[in-house]
Amino acid sequence: MTTQSTELQYLPSDLKRELLPQHVAVIMDGNGRWAKRQGLPRIMGHQRGVDALKDLLRCCKDWGIKALTVYAFSTENWKRPQKEVDFVMSLIQGFLRQELREMLEKNVQIQFVGNLQALPTAVQEEISRSMAATKNNRSIKFTVATNYGGRQEILQACRVIAQKVQEGILRPDEISEELFENHLYTAGTADPDLLIRTSGEMRLSNFLLWQMAYGEIYITDTLWPDFDRREFYRALCAYQQRERRFGKV
Ligand code: IPE
Ligand code: IPE
Ligand code: MG
Repeated sequence: MTTQSTELQYLPSDLKRELLPQHVAVIMDGNGRWAKRQGLPRIMGHQRGVDALKDLLRCCKDWGIKALTVYAFSTENWKRPQKEVDFVMSLIQGFLRQELREMLEKNVQIQFVGNLQALPTAVQEEISRSMAATKNNRSIKFTVATNYGGRQEILQACRVIAQKVQEGILRPDEISEELFENHLYTAGTADPDLLIRTSGEMRLSNFLLWQMAYGEIYITDTLWPDFDRREFYRALCAYQQRERRFGKV
């Protein structure tokens, strides 16, 4: 653990516990740029990105945030060089192998969302194992979006619902927001209150399109491998200054 993370082991006293986001989502972007700046191959940025993620998960647990969802691999990321894709897949596998014990100890529930059937078999097995082992854990829900696309998620929900209508199990007028949400990958998890994107890009890149209808967005120029507790603290300070109006005056 770094000096900084020890320093910020507990929720900083100027943050109001009652105004913390219940659910934080993160687009972990900028690994490639981080590596380039250090004169290293892109994959080294992904490697360091995993360290940043491990500490963010511990931090959320330490500070009392109940759900963390991170974007690890998008449906569009298959278009990257094969070597980079393979490396990201092996990092996911390695992460699960190394962290499962601590997740069990700390009562973390891990779940994966996305089109998981298209992932390499070894990765799928590791995912199933860790999801099954932690399914009753309740201190924090940690969701990893892998081969995830917001549009694909909405389409697969539409297909399942259409099938139910065709079979006469459901009437079209019964399709409510609540019913629709129950068919998304994220069923059972409340929408994110705060979405953080690192590396300055101001777009959603197909992440949580439905769920982010009213979520607050925080963008920092910091590259993902450099995102630490102090950066997270800044994001939470900014969030606590926001006025969430949900369309009201
Ligand atoms: C995000 O970092 C990680 C993944 C998409 C897997 P990038 O790899 O997109 O980093 P940049 O945007 O090229 O710097
Ligand atoms: C979004 O980042 C996906 C992840 C962080 C996993 P990208 O780097 O793929 O997004 P774009 O290409 O800049 O929109
Ligand atoms: Mg990127």
